[in-house]
Amino acid sequence: MSNKRITTAAIRQKKSAGEVITMLTAYDAAFARLLDEAGVDMLLVGDSLGNTMLGYDSTLPVTMEEILHHTRAVCRGASHALIVADMPFMSYQISVEDALRNAGRILKETAAQAVKLEGGKEVTATVKAMTSAGIPVVGHLGLTPQSVHQLGGFKVQGKDVAAAQQLIDDARGLEAAGAFAVVLECVPAPLAAKVTQALSIPTIGIGAGNGCDGQVLVIHDILGLLPGFKPKFVKPYRALHTEITAAVQEYIDEVKNRQFPGPEHSFTLADEVLEKLY
Ligand code: KIV
Repeated sequence: MSNKRITTAAIRQKKSAGEVITMLTAYDAAFARLLDEAGVDMLLVGDSLGNTMLGYDSTLPVTMEEILHHTRAVCRGASHALIVADMPFMSYQISVEDALRNAGRILKETAAQAVKLEGGKEVTATVKAMTSAGIPVVGHLGLTPQSVHQLGGFKVQGKDVAAAQQLIDDARGLEAAGAFAVVLECVPAPLAAKVTQALSIPTIGIGAGNGCDGQVLVIHDILGLLPGFKPKFVKPYRALHTEITAAVQEYIDEVKNRQFPGPEHSFTLADEVLEKLY
């Protein structure tokens, strides 16, 4: 693997070359380094950090300052993957000017290369303004968690003709506005495949079947870090919560039994020094 950072052009090129794009969320330097070294193409500092890292019950409370803080950490950890930062709720909806200022902050105050924002035709003017200003944008259609209250819950989107056609039109609109990729979340697989065929930019699916140009998942979900939470579209590749609980319980037992720390974890002091102490 080369040490050069993956560019937005390289991501677009992967679609033309028929190469599948891999993306995972990352929220801190330690995980960013691990995922980067494993060879993932793109890291998303998702506003899912509200749920996974900050203990909120939705993405709505996440602030610009929190996104900036976590994005800086991810940028320090990863040297190869392309880094995309989510624009938090209400950082781009108020006005195009406000959106530009906030997206500009992400590029100026972190080393992220792109921003992601949710929505279709209602954000295309904003996306156009950002891309015209040189800010690479990833769109996000389908289930858009920042609109959870308007959508009435976390449900599959685009199931009837009108909604499915709107999603295709929105995807075309984002492409025309200059987005270099579009995330499709919780969209029926045949619809996601149709959107993928309709666009020259890559689609990156999450709960959108195998016909997208790439896939993204939340790192906590693939590692099984959040017990009891498993949406249909998630494949937990490990159950690390059980490993972590077991490791911590072993530590507690060994500390209580005075098995840890052992001599190999302790520093010595010369006898002649010890003898002189009173
Ligand atoms: O915030 C996030 O993690 C996301 C992904 C689910 C695509 O937007």
